[in-house]
Order: sequence, then C-alpha cells, then structure tokens
Amino acid sequence: MRQVDWHYKRPELATRYLKSVGLSPISRIALLGVRRIGKTAFLLKDLAPKASELGFVPIYLNIWENEESPQEHIIMTLDRFISSMKSSAKQSIKDLLASEVKKLDINLGLIKATVDTSASHTAVTPSEISQISEQIKEVIRLASEMDKRPLFIIDEVQILNSSEKFLPLQACLRTNFDTFDEICAIYAGSSRGGVAAMFNQKEAEVLTGEKFAKREMPFYNSASLVEFPHLEPECIDFFLGVLADRFSINCPKRELSDAFKALDYSPFWLRMLLTEMTANMQDVTSAMKIIKGKIEVDGALDYITAGLSKIDKLVYLRLHGTRSKYSQQDMQFYSEHMGKAVKKSSVQNAISKLKRLKLVTEYDAGMFFEKAGLKTYIEKDLNL
Ligand SMILES: Nc1ncnc2c1ncn2[C@@H]1O[C@H](COP(=O)(O)OP(=O)(O)OP(=O)(O)O)[C@@H](O)[C@H]1O
Ligand SMILES: [Mg+2]
Repeated sequence: MRQVDWHYKRPELATRYLKSVGLSPISRIALLGVRRIGKTAFLLKDLAPKASELGFVPIYLNIWENEESPQEHIIMTLDRFISSMKSSAKQSIKDLLASEVKKLDINLGLIKATVDTSASHTAVTPSEISQISEQIKEVIRLASEMDKRPLFIIDEVQILNSSEKFLPLQACLRTNFDTFDEICAIYAGSSRGGVAAMFNQKEAEVLTGEKFAKREMPFYNSASLVEFPHLEPECIDFFLGVLADRFSINCPKRELSDAFKALDYSPFWLRMLLTEMTANMQDVTSAMKIIKGKIEVDGALDYITAGLSKIDKLVYLRLHGTRSKYSQQDMQFYSEHMGKAVKKSSVQNAISKLKRLKLVTEYDAGMFFEKAGLKTYIEKDLNL
C-alpha cells in the first residue's frame, strides 16, 4: 500500500531562503520560530532537496544529537558527508539526508530532555577545533570540484550556547564561515530567545561552571535573523485532500481551519488531530477534545512542573505576569504564597534554575517564555 505523505510542501519558501543566502551579500540566516512550528521538517524535506536542485551541497547538522559533546557530532557528521562527496554513488548525500528524515519521522512525539549541569558538557579541545577547520576546508574543496557551493544547515544551534565550554566551537565555525565566502549557512533552533541572543547580542549570559556569566557571543552579527512563518492557510486544502483521497473522509474546511487556529497553528498538533481522525474515525470536534488533553501531557508540562519547587513556580508566574523580579510587590507575593519570609537569594536561585532549564530566556530588554501553556499549568497546579 502506498505510504501516506502528510508533509505539506513549501518549495517557494525554500527557494526564497536559498536565494537570500546564495545571492545576497548576507550568506547566512538564522530562522527564529517557536517550538514545533515545523523548522526541522522544512529544513529536511523542503530546503535540503531544493538546495541540491539549485547547485548547493546541503550538509545537515543537528546539534541536539549530542548535546553534551556537540564537537564530536560535528566531526562525525562532516566525516560522513566528506565520504559521501568523495563517493561516486550519486545517491550518497541524498541517502544521508534521508536517514535524518527518518529520525525526524520517528521522533515525532519525542520530548527533548535538557542537560542541566555544566559538568556533563565536554570541553572542546584545540585538536578538535583544528580537525573541524580542516574538514570544512575539505568540504569546500570537494564542493568546488563538483561545481557546487556548500550549504551548512545547522539545526538546534542554541545548544552551542548552552555552556561556556562550547564557545570555542562557535568561534571556529564563525571564523571559517567568515573566511570562505563561498560557504552559505542556515541556522535554526528551538529556543526563540536563545537563538536571538546568540546572533543579536554582543554579550549574553552563558552557563559557566554552575553559574551564569556574561560572555561575548561569537556569532554576534554573523547572520540575519528571519522569523519562520506558520504553515500557509492553503495547507488546510492539502490536508483535506489527503483525508478525502486516502481515507474517504470529507471534513468541512471551516472546521479544520478553526481547529488549526485553536491549536496555535502548530503543525505538530494538527498532525496529531488528523491521526486521531483517521485512526479512530473521529470528527474534528471529538478529536479536538482528545488532543487538548494530550497537549498538557505531551507538552511534558507535568514532567517539567514536577522538577520545580514552589518558589520556582511562583517566580515563573511573577516573571511571566510582570517581568519584574525583586520589587516590593514581588517579594510580598512570594512570601504570601510561601507562608514565610522569602530571601532575595532564593529568588535569584529560582531564576537561575528557570534559565538553566531553558524555561525562561532573557536578552536585551526582552524576556522569553519558551514553553507554551506552562503558566496556565502552574496556576492550576498551585490553585491560583
Ligand atoms: N509542512 C508540514 N506538513 C505537515 N506536517 C508538518 C509540517 N511541518 C511540520 N509538521 C509536523 O510537525 C512536527 C514538528 O515539526 P518540526 O519537528 O519540524 O518542528 P520544529 O520547529 O523543528 O520543532 P523544535 O523546535 O522542537 O525543533 C513534525 O514532526 C511534523 O509531524
Ligand atoms: Mg526542530
């Protein structure tokens, strides 16, 4: 039986980004978007194939694959791509990308855990840095032999900012990308504030030992930031078509559009909704009820809140509501709900923890809350 392809294709968006890195003076862009908006699916299923078509060699690196030692993952992946480029088999690079697509499809509902102690991060050694530099040069040489341009697609780039130990790695990539202007790069990450801070700020707070300290950002000003858009409204016609053709389900367009809106235009949850409809033959309204319940659980909100103490939760609520931390009203709010006086140092510890867990990110004057629905969940949890 023919497999169902649920992927809504976005070739125009892919062409637009590729022209932007390939033709304009800025050969690097960083895509900003909330979690599960479809960045990785787009990079692998739309952008990489289009890049091959337009004369690039797409090299996809997902830094999340080894968040304790991203340098090892980079070295291993570049090695594979170099071998592919050397191989006479035409399919070789396509096969490497296809294996990434497979991982994406399997990982569909996976919850990403976060390493939250600096002890588990492995420092980058000078020999690793020189190895990566050599590999990049080799990629350039091989691409030029093929009369193509290398395009580095670096996903989950915020991991490179999760520890001071990885800053030399960022500096190495930046230096090489600055030196060889035939290289194009597209970055994406799943922490909106985190990625923006890396590219938009001269200095930002980075985990240094057990604390956060201000450090210079090696990627500062090295890419233009681009807001990654939601799936276009036409995607609803595409999904309706699949429902009708493959499942003989005729669903009113308005109902599916409204559901997509109610799901904050998340393609991830829309796919879950469609699965509910096709697997259990539910109509949109009943499927939506089930999905709303799943959002709380699958969003891992229960798992996250279980790891937070009461003061962490109160501080989160206060930050979310007022963006202020230690005002008299803030301290009064904490004390009232804790039933005892709360010290400023406890609030500071809570803020550090929330940042370490990437629930809150801060840059410039902005504060970002990275986990959708967490505020409401905490309020419910604390009976507020
Ligand atoms: N164009 C699309 N058509 C159909 N489904 C899509 C599309 N884009 C994304 N999805 C669905 O949404 C899921 C989440 O997408 P994806 O993993 O690409 O998001 P992301 O922005 O990379 O998330 P994260 O920030 O967590 O890395 C995919 O596994 C897929 O099921
Ligand atoms: Mg992703």
